[in-house]
Amino acid sequence: MKVTYISATIAFGTASFGYAHPQARAGWVPAGPNDVRAPCPMLNTLANHGYLPHSGKAITQNKTVEALKAALNFAEDLSAILFEAAVGTNPTPNATTFDLDHLGRHNVLEHDGSLSRADNYFGPGNQSVFNEVVFNQTKSFWTGDVITMQMAANARASRLMTSNLTNPEFELSDTGSIFSIGESAAYVTVLGDKVSRTVPKSYVEYLFENERLPYELGFKRPATPYTGDDLVAASNEIVALQSFPQSPGKGL
Ligand code: HEM
Ligand code: MG
Repeated sequence: MKVTYISATIAFGTASFGYAHPQARAGWVPAGPNDVRAPCPMLNTLANHGYLPHSGKAITQNKTVEALKAALNFAEDLSAILFEAAVGTNPTPNATTFDLDHLGRHNVLEHDGSLSRADNYFGPGNQSVFNEVVFNQTKSFWTGDVITMQMAANARASRLMTSNLTNPEFELSDTGSIFSIGESAAYVTVLGDKVSRTVPKSYVEYLFENERLPYELGFKRPATPYTGDDLVAASNEIVALQSFPQSPGKGL
């Protein structure tokens, strides 16, 4: 599948946000017993740092845009599109906020074949929490100190294949597929360099395993905004580099 768009343009207000979020980087505190978290290692990280509400609850569009801009220099329109997807996972109709645990609702955005989470089939709730065995499989494809797009494509293909062969209820919708591709594109080009499309392996492992930004390893907020075009271009490279047999398990 070629990724040609992420979403239709979503109208966005004129509010502007400074880069210096008051609580941001004041500290890093892992989730407590009343905090909720997501199957997304990056959003969990942003909540742990206080860029997003530490509770993981009642996240508005403004908070999403502000957090992604402050921590990662995300362009506002890309963040707004991601928020629009996220708010659709809130089980309450017409909600204007989401909680991080809403993102774990299976087959809304959350999909099988994740890089660091087991499939929902192997135990409800598993799809949201870090799983070392699953992540070890992913890591085995990161064969150098620097992760290339080819390594990322290989890791993703392997995880999807394993899920497809072991999970009798394996499913990957078009939305799930776009997210899966985008997630692999994102860890390389958001945490790493969006021009060379490489990332130090240590940054990625640190993020997944600690749900903390790898500042102490040298990670810096990117100097130029990260746009939807950046994500689509990197996503298309992931697709181009993978070598699945045609439409595995789905007929022609
Ligand atoms: C996973 C949502 C921002 C990186 C996920 C998943 C969801 C999600 C629902 C679970 C998919 C699955 O594996 O089943 C979102 C939303 C975002 C956001 C709504 C913004 C509002 C980001 C950003 C990054 C990122 C900025 C940058 C690196 C990832 C990665 C995974 C993931 C690498 C895959 C985890 C795995 O396969 O184990 N995200 N995400 N996300 N997200 Fe995010
Ligand atoms: Mg998943």
